[in-house]
Amino acid sequence: MQKNVLKSGIEISEVGLGCMSLGTDKKQAEPIIERAIDHGITYFDTADIYDKGVNEEIVGDVLKKYQNRDDIVIGTKVGNHLQDDGSTFWDPSKAHIKDSVKESLRKLHLDHIDLYQLHGGTIDDPMDETISAFDELKQEGTIRAYGISSIRPNVINYYLEHSDIETLMSQFNLIDNRPESLLEDVAAKNVKLLARGPVFKGLLTSKSNDALDSKFADGIFDYNYQELGETIASVKEIENNLTALTFNYLASQDALGAIIVGASSVEQLDENIKNYEFSKKLNREKVKAARARVKNLEYTQHLK
Ligand SMILES: NC(=O)c1ccc[n+]([C@@H]2O[C@H](COP(=O)([O-])OP(=O)(O)OC[C@H]3O[C@@H](n4cnc5c(N)ncnc54)[C@H](OP(=O)(O)O)[C@@H]3O)[C@@H](O)[C@H]2O)c1
Repeated sequence: MQKNVLKSGIEISEVGLGCMSLGTDKKQAEPIIERAIDHGITYFDTADIYDKGVNEEIVGDVLKKYQNRDDIVIGTKVGNHLQDDGSTFWDPSKAHIKDSVKESLRKLHLDHIDLYQLHGGTIDDPMDETISAFDELKQEGTIRAYGISSIRPNVINYYLEHSDIETLMSQFNLIDNRPESLLEDVAAKNVKLLARGPVFKGLLTSKSNDALDSKFADGIFDYNYQELGETIASVKEIENNLTALTFNYLASQDALGAIIVGASSVEQLDENIKNYEFSKKLNREKVKAARARVKNLEYTQHLK
């Protein structure tokens, strides 16, 4: 598996396991994480809020036995303040970040976090305070690097200009190609993109039709349901392997750090890795032709 390198030298596998869809049963999640390691995946994405903290616990428990391997990298996220009644509110304050990191370290059984990410953010946040929290954590060695997960251009631009972020996580796939407009600025700052939603909840897999009906019945972005179905059918005329197409499209971006793909079963993970390998052999002209058959999407909100 190819590795990509962050500014601070941290190496992450080009395919990372998105742990959000592992579920809350460790017995079901563990084989998926183990299989990811067998496939050469060394980057694992979680967040303090996934399954109200259970996800971090599962990821931490399963990966604990690999702590002697210095190539396993875990990224987690902070910013959603979980309350005792299970509700959350957005809290990018320094106090919350510094408090939460301790809980994430405990759950992940770690003495430092490789990649700590702000889990969203708005232009009205006290952004300098948030940035200084991450900088201080880095200086004291509690985290090795930090990043942001966002689809808001105004917030992303602020962090690119005023912070030392090493990664930007955004939804990015052949259909949701909005991040293309960010690539130049991201690459100029040597920030790496973590592409989440790469198979678009299954739409860009062999189960495309099932996902279309069950998850995109109301369409998405500028596509209504019918247009989306027609677009997928048209792309398949070029190459039937939609996962390989979207993976090749993502991996060909200079700024790509990792394709963060989720899987709720070992079978899905196996299929995705097989398709990742196939994507490396795919003719680039096919990928360009497929890209030309989907709409050029742009961010329309949170621009200023
Ligand atoms: N704001 C954020 O920071 C944020 C937001 C979202 C996600 N993430 C991260 O990004 C990761 C990936 O995001 P995502 O889960 O939204 O997107 P994704 O990887 O495109 O979709 C994962 C889902 O697609 C389906 N799938 C995957 N492989 C499949 C296959 N081979 N055949 C059929 N269906 C397949 C599964 O759905 P079913 O389980 O329904 O079968 C799976 O749960 C998450 O796990 C999380 O770590 C971060």
